[in-house]
Amino acid sequence: MGLLDKWKNIKETEVEPGIDHTMYLTLKEERRISRENSRIIKQFEREKNRKNVPEEEYLTQMRDPNNVVEFDNLHTYFFTDVGTVKSVNGVTFDIPQGKVVGVVGESGCGKSVTSLSLMQLVQAPQGQIVAGSIRYQSRDGKCYEITKMPKDRMLKVRGKEIAMIFQEPMTSLNPVFKIGEQMDEVVLLHEEGATPKAARERSLEMLNLVGIADPQKVYNNYPHELSGGMRQRVMIAMALSCTPRLIIADEPTTALDVTIQAQILELLRDVKNKINGSIMLITHDLGVIAEMADYVVVMYAGRIIEKGTVREIFHNPKHPYTIGLMRSKPSGKTKDNRLYSIKGQVPNPINMPNHCYFYNRCDRAIGICAEEYPEMIQFTDTHSAACHLCRNGGFMDTNSTKEQR
Ligand SMILES: Nc1ncnc2c1ncn2[C@@H]1O[C@H](COP(=O)(O)OP(=O)(O)OP(=O)(O)O)[C@@H](O)[C@H]1O
Ligand code: SF4
Ligand SMILES: [Mg+2]
Repeated sequence: MGLLDKWKNIKETEVEPGIDHTMYLTLKEERRISRENSRIIKQFEREKNRKNVPEEEYLTQMRDPNNVVEFDNLHTYFFTDVGTVKSVNGVTFDIPQGKVVGVVGESGCGKSVTSLSLMQLVQAPQGQIVAGSIRYQSRDGKCYEITKMPKDRMLKVRGKEIAMIFQEPMTSLNPVFKIGEQMDEVVLLHEEGATPKAARERSLEMLNLVGIADPQKVYNNYPHELSGGMRQRVMIAMALSCTPRLIIADEPTTALDVTIQAQILELLRDVKNKINGSIMLITHDLGVIAEMADYVVVMYAGRIIEKGTVREIFHNPKHPYTIGLMRSKPSGKTKDNRLYSIKGQVPNPINMPNHCYFYNRCDRAIGICAEEYPEMIQFTDTHSAACHLCRNGGFMDTNSTKEQR
């Protein structure tokens, strides 16, 4: 029996009907959830900690050889004491070779957990990939199923072929080691036969590549001696030191002021072209997406609600949430100078409804929206959205919207 089947056999949290169990839990319920969680977690951890797993078990085939990564119906859950948080709940999208895929969505919608799943860095043991697959086309020509890859094998991919740039460089750099030591370590760890001298040369070369004017000095600095923009450049240099195939940039410019932000984006684009790599760019900032991305994935409450090329999403958004996002961009055109905001809140991730997750905030909702979760509707080869209004290739008659009813 595969993990997915095991998961399906595991009973969901049983609580008294009508009670929001995330607001109120009896001691008995809490103990039962905790017991259930530890049973489930043990199963997943046992599977992950298997030794000497034959390569055939985690070798697979890409659906499209032009992709570097394919997420396929990925489910990543956190088994907490108050219930199961379905952080990523059936996510499917591709990252093509040499392209930038922007992932947008409200805070808590599962953007970071999706990228951490790809790096096998989801906070275990509570966090587990419970179903779905992540296919990765490696530089050695083989295609790996990341969800089944043993930890020791993953060490050869993580940092070397897939690198990550985090939002806040100060928390990602170790404050007690000099920049040079931390950069050299990456090269020594991932490049077979690399000598300390070669590592130093590579680190200096990378610092130079990311536009640091005095690499020698920065190499000997501690992180606190650098400005925020310089630290972020160091993080990018570090990520690039093993010429990765894919860079995951999780809010790479959020902590920076706008001028530095523009420089860092320019730099990312530049290095992507130099190494012919791909970027998974996670951000709240639609301006950054417009500037950088080829494709856009819009997430909401752990699911993808719309995806398409940057042009399709910006010029022809279909899902009311995406339309709302587009309207909430500052444009300077609003008459009363007020920014549009999407009212309401994302549903509780532990207690998701069985209808459209956007229903409580959507002013275009129709009857069926409160009854079933909408399927993904395909408009073009690249553009699709999950909304009942999008059936029949476009918007249905919205005469009976929630506001008018
Ligand atoms: N270690 C954890 N334990 C429990 N729940 C978690 C954990 N990490 C993330 N989550 C939950 O998973 C969901 C998705 O989180 P994630 O960090 O992916 O959001 P995000 O889209 O990256 O948000 P942001 O834009 O604020 O970074 C959230 O509901 C979050 O509370
Ligand atoms: S399915 Fe209904 S509630 Fe959901 S976004 Fe579309 S119109 Fe709104
Ligand atoms: Mg995040």
